[in-house]
Order: sequence, then structure tokens, then C-alpha cells
Amino acid sequence: MTTTIFVLNGPNLNLLGQREPRIYGTQTLAEITKAMEQRAKSLQLTLDVRQSNHEGVLVDWLHEAMAKAAAVVINGGGYAHTSIAIRDAVAALQIPVVEVHLSNVYAREHFRRQSMIAQVARGSIAGFGPLSYVLALDAAAHLCKGTAAQGASQIQ
Ligand code: DQA
Repeated sequence: MTTTIFVLNGPNLNLLGQREPRIYGTQTLAEITKAMEQRAKSLQLTLDVRQSNHEGVLVDWLHEAMAKAAAVVINGGGYAHTSIAIRDAVAALQIPVVEVHLSNVYAREHFRRQSMIAQVARGSIAGFGPLSYVLALDAAAHLCKGTAAQGASQIQ
């Protein structure tokens, strides 16, 4: 069985660090990925972290996850609120999917309070900045192999 977790990032997340830092913080996606990699190592999991600004590419990667991943962590960016295609691709997966957002989407504009992905994901984590990703990874690990509790004391 695979121990790979796909971490899929949607539009504009390549701009993290410079994009609206008041809302999304100053860490780049590469820095967030590094923190996740450290956590993944302690969980004995492998990450495959990707980012695309294109809806269809994200759909293709979700299809790829069917065969190659034990779980998916996804930050759909703006597509979380609009994309039926991504929602349907998540619904088609039999592996656990955890939705993640850096910002607290429930405390922002009204249009961000609904997520298409949340409706079909196993759960969502939002509002903790870069830590959201590490928490989502823990949740995914817990769902796919039950080891998150084991490494929880190592969270920095
Ligand atoms: C986001 C929240 C979305 O509403 C927004 O469109 C993003 C980032 C987040 O991580 O907080 O691009 O997904």
C-alpha cells in the first residue's frame, strides 16, 4: 500500500509570501512545504506537493491520486468556492480527502463561507495559517493509517 499523500494547491497559492500577507501571512509555499515535509517524515509518509492555477489540472491530479495516493490534502484556493468539477473529482475518490485553508474563510466575505470541496471532503481545516497544512496532514495521516496520534507530541 502506498504511503504517499498528495498535497494539491489551487490558484494564486504560488504567490504566497507576497500575496495579501495580512491575510495569508509571509511564508511562501516552499516554506510551508518544508514544514509539511518535516512532519511527513516523522509520520513516515511521503508527500507529493503540487500547485496549479488551472482547474482541469487539479481535476487530473485528483484522478491521479486514485491510483497513487493514500490520502489527499487540498487547498482549492478560490476554486473551493466555485468548482463543481473539483467537487465531483473529490467525491469520486475513495481515499480520504482533507480540505485546508490558510485563512478563516468563515470570518471573511460571504462568498467564501461556502466550499464545494467541504461538502465531499472528510473534513476541513481553516484559519491557522501555515499550521493549517500541518494539521491537515496529521488528519490525513490519521485517516489513512492512524499514526497521527503517535507523532502528535512532535508538533513544533
Ligand atoms: C484560501 C481561501 C480562499 O478563499 C482564497 O480564494 C484563496 C486562499 C486560503 O487558503 O485561505 O486563494 O484557500
